[in-house]
Amino acid sequence: MSLIVLCAGGHARVVIEALLSRGTRPSAVTDRDSARVGTMCGGIPITGPDEDILKMKPDQVELANGLGNRASRSSSGLSARRELFDRFAALGYKFPVITHAATVVASDASLGEGAQVMAGVIIQPAARIGRNVLVNTRAVVEHDCQVGDHCHIAPGAVLCGGVLVGEGAHVGAGAVVLSGVSLGAGAVVAAGAVITKNVEAGAFVAATGNRTS
Ligand SMILES: CC(C)(COP(=O)(O)OP(=O)(O)OC[C@H]1O[C@@H](n2cnc3c(N)ncnc32)[C@H](O)[C@@H]1OP(=O)(O)O)[C@@H](O)C(=O)NCCC(=O)NCCS
Repeated sequence: MSLIVLCAGGHARVVIEALLSRGTRPSAVTDRDSARVGTMCGGIPITGPDEDILKMKPDQVELANGLGNRASRSSSGLSARRELFDRFAALGYKFPVITHAATVVASDASLGEGAQVMAGVIIQPAARIGRNVLVNTRAVVEHDCQVGDHCHIAPGAVLCGGVLVGEGAHVGAGAVVLSGVSLGAGAVVAAGAVITKNVEAGAFVAATGNRTS
């Protein structure tokens, strides 16, 4: 079964590294920019647009989501990554779980379809990671956390025990979410923030965190 990475950006190269660390070499990368066809991404050829996938049946190929995101105060920036996953998943294409070889994932943690766990990540017991979630480089997801579908836990972020993250939320690089805190769906946490209290759906929390004094 061949594996194709969708969208030849910076995140795709990180995904390719994770795959190579497990001895899996993707056969191709797709990109909607036709000018990039024929060039390489992470040592893998860019062979055509995403639509080329449709020439293959869902049981002939597996896919990896190579699209990252750029969060802002008003948006997690995750919708394009989510749409790419949903579009092909709805047609029956499979997105395997990808874990870099240099990760620690507890034996009873669960990883949803297409979850990506990058180098240096630690995921502790009974953590539940949803579909198409990106747990990025060196992030920590402590015991009993639940991370909803399509979230991005950015590099170096720490979710302490029992944190709940609603779907499509972005936890910025190096942020710390204290034990038992809930983040609503689509919430955006700035890089470096310390989150001590629950965050409403769609809300933005700056790097000073949500202290009240
Ligand atoms: C907080 C954040 C969402 C704001 O994004 P934005 O709405 O596009 O805002 P801007 O980048 O235009 O920054 C606005 C101001 O806030 C400052 N700022 C941005 N992010 C900051 C942060 N995390 N901590 C402190 N200050 C920050 C900027 O320096 C800028 O200051 P200025 O107005 O004095 O020039 C974004 O900076 C952030 O932290 N994103 C997470 C990044 C991340 O985790 N990436 C992972 C990639 S793998």
